[in-house]
Formats: sequence, structure tokens, C-alpha cells
Amino acid sequence: MRTIKVNLDRKCSSSYEIRIGNDILDRIALLIAKNHKAERYAVVTDDYVGALYGKKFIDVLKDIGLDAFMIEFPSGEASKSMKTVLDIAGRLMDNRADRGTCLIALGGGVVGDIAGFVASIFMRGVPCIQIPTTLVAQVDSSIGGKTGVDLSHGKNLLGTFYQPTAVFADLHFLKTLPEKEFNNGLAEIIKYGIIDDEKMFCSLEDNMEAIKSGDPKLLLSMVAGCCQIKKSVVEIDEKEHGLRRILNYGHTLGHALETISKYKITHGEGVALGMIAAARISEKTGYLEKEARERIEALIAQAGLPVKISRSMDGEKIITQLKMDKKKKGNVVHFVLLKKIGLPFINGHVENGVIAGVIEEMKK
Ligand SMILES: NC(=O)c1ccc[n+]([C@@H]2O[C@H](COP(=O)([O-])OP(=O)(O)OC[C@H]3O[C@@H](n4cnc5c(N)ncnc54)[C@H](O)[C@@H]3O)[C@@H](O)[C@H]2O)c1
Repeated sequence: MRTIKVNLDRKCSSSYEIRIGNDILDRIALLIAKNHKAERYAVVTDDYVGALYGKKFIDVLKDIGLDAFMIEFPSGEASKSMKTVLDIAGRLMDNRADRGTCLIALGGGVVGDIAGFVASIFMRGVPCIQIPTTLVAQVDSSIGGKTGVDLSHGKNLLGTFYQPTAVFADLHFLKTLPEKEFNNGLAEIIKYGIIDDEKMFCSLEDNMEAIKSGDPKLLLSMVAGCCQIKKSVVEIDEKEHGLRRILNYGHTLGHALETISKYKITHGEGVALGMIAAARISEKTGYLEKEARERIEALIAQAGLPVKISRSMDGEKIITQLKMDKKKKGNVVHFVLLKKIGLPFINGHVENGVIAGVIEEMKK
């Protein structure tokens, strides 16, 4: 099992460990019993993951004498709402949960974001352990403490920064992940290569097929590499005042596309398209060389992710939605752009015309 420590002791939050391994469910339970003792454990999951792993995990916890119960909600982004938050809080109360209860988020990014949000406000805050079961959640959403839900106006508009007390990533979960969901995770992995690690980017170019076929060694090294990058950024800028914004590479346009498509475009697909758009904007504004932009597009295509925006999506609507982005300052939308692979920067002066041009270019 690999261990990566997120050091936040000099900030307001506590430090915690990310453990990554293969087929480690029993050991996760033992580590929870040993290092994260609580009176009760509420395993929050979605109905799909609940059926696959929830009951089994509750049994593992009970077998070692822990008091655990499960709370499920329907899987999918549509559940990332205040309605689900209130529903979970109600079910915690029905199960007589109190401040001695620890929440365990067992699932993908949706479960992690909602359970983390509930943990941050239930009885003014109870601990939350993240057990990510999708590739997106293992390399990204379970780490760093961003929690939240969507509003009809856009994604993640209500939320908190609330760090987990531990993260356990078991690669075994990925075996049941549908290819489309696996590809969503690849989008985030590619993002890390683009923003921080050209070596990782090259390794992805060389090994994409083996990674897609689930090579355990490569997967472990990719997941650990991404966690290492994310934790380093979060340690410097926990609350996204500066550096952490580079993690949003591809997300500005990505979120807008997700929202407008009413989440028919998944998070990973949106990020893939957003990364291509940001690379094209970087090239058009004279920062990025054509060859680097082409490599980015080729790698995204190699991963099986979309590279074109559907013709049916209205360019003006996309730009209006961009202005709803919560990271905008006043009317200025900040894009993460590139000088080269591994060298991002924030730019708040991209003209609407450039963005509109790139969107039109990317249509089928
Ligand atoms: N907090 C953050 O820093 C952060 C970062 C990135 C993304 N996010 C959020 O994460 C969400 C996307 O996460 P996601 O891609 O994991 O989506 P998700 O949680 O909706 O999971 C995708 C689907 O996979 C299923 N699933 C989960 N684990 C499985 C497994 N092991 N086997 C089979 N099926 C499984 C789920 O039931 C769901 O249907 C978005 O809401 C996004 O905003 C948050």
C-alpha cells in the first residue's frame, strides 16, 4: 500500500493520509478501527455502488466490531442537490447519528462531494473518510476538501472547504467501472500531466493502451502520481486563492458544457473538451506552440474522450454560461492557459471573440 501525506498542520485544517493499494478493503476497515475510531459510522453511497460494494463493506466493518449503517441515494449528477443533502441529514437523524458519528463516503465524486458537504455542516461538523470508487474520485475529487452541490444555475455553487480525515483508494473498485467512467478519470490524469508533469504526459502517450486495459502497476503509479501533484498544490493553496486554480485547467469551459447539456456531457468529457479549448486559446493568443496543442488533442483522442463540441450546442449560450462560473471575478472569466506542457498560467483577459472562435472551430 502506498501512503501519501497531505500536510496541512500549519493551515486551519488537519493533515491526513491518502492510502492507495489493490484489493485492500479488509485493511481499510482495520485502519479505520485503529486510527479513526468513532462511535458509529454512516456509510454514504449511491444506489449503484451500494449494491456493488456497500453491503459488503458494512459487513467488513461489522465483522471487526464497528457499528455501521448505510445511507444510499440515487446515482448520478442529478442527485448532487440540496434535496439529497436534506434527505441524508434526515436519515442520519433517523439513525440517531450525533457528533460521535463518522461519515464514510463510498463512491465516485458525486458521493464524495455530497457526503463531504453533509459532514461539514451536520451538527456543525463531523469527520468524513473518503473511499473513492471511480478513477475521477481516486485521482482528484476525494483529495483536497472541496465539497458541494449544484444549483440549477450551475455546478458546485453551494459548498465548503472541508478536509477528509483520511482517503483510501482501492484500485480493485476500478474493475467494475464502465469504460466511459474510466475515461472520465483519464481526462483528469491527462490534466495533471498537462499542468504539472511533462514526464507523466509522455508516459501517458507511450502507455495509454496498457492503462486502459487496467495494468495494475501503471495504474498504481498514475493514481499515486496524480495524488502527489494534487496534495502538493493543496498544501500550498488549500482554499484556492492562487496556485490551486491551475487544477481547473479545462474546467471553465468543461463545467459550462456539462451544465448546458444538462449533464448528458459527463464531467470528464466536459474537461476533455475544455482542455482542448484552453490549448487552442493558448495557441491563438501566442503562448503555446502548435505541436504541443496537437499532442494534447491526440492524447485526449487516444484516451477515447471527445474532441469535438456537438453542433447542436449554441456558442452564445456557452459563453453566457461561462460568466456564471464561480471562479470569475466581476465579469472576468479566468482561464487556465499554457505556455507549454507542464507550464500553466492564469489569464483573465481572453476576449469573447477568441473563445467564440475556438468553440465554433471545435464543432463537428
Ligand atoms: N471535489 C473536487 O475536488 C472534485 C474534483 C473533480 C470532480 N468533482 C465532482 O465529481 C463528480 C464526478 O465524479 P465521478 O466521475 O466519480 O462521477 P459519479 O460519482 O457520478 O460516478 C459515476 C458513475 O459511476 C458509478 N460508480 C462509482 N463507482 C463505481 C465502481 N467502482 N464500479 C462501477 N460503477 C461505479 C456511479 O454509481 C455513477 O453512476 C462531479 O460532480 C464533479 O463536480 C469534484
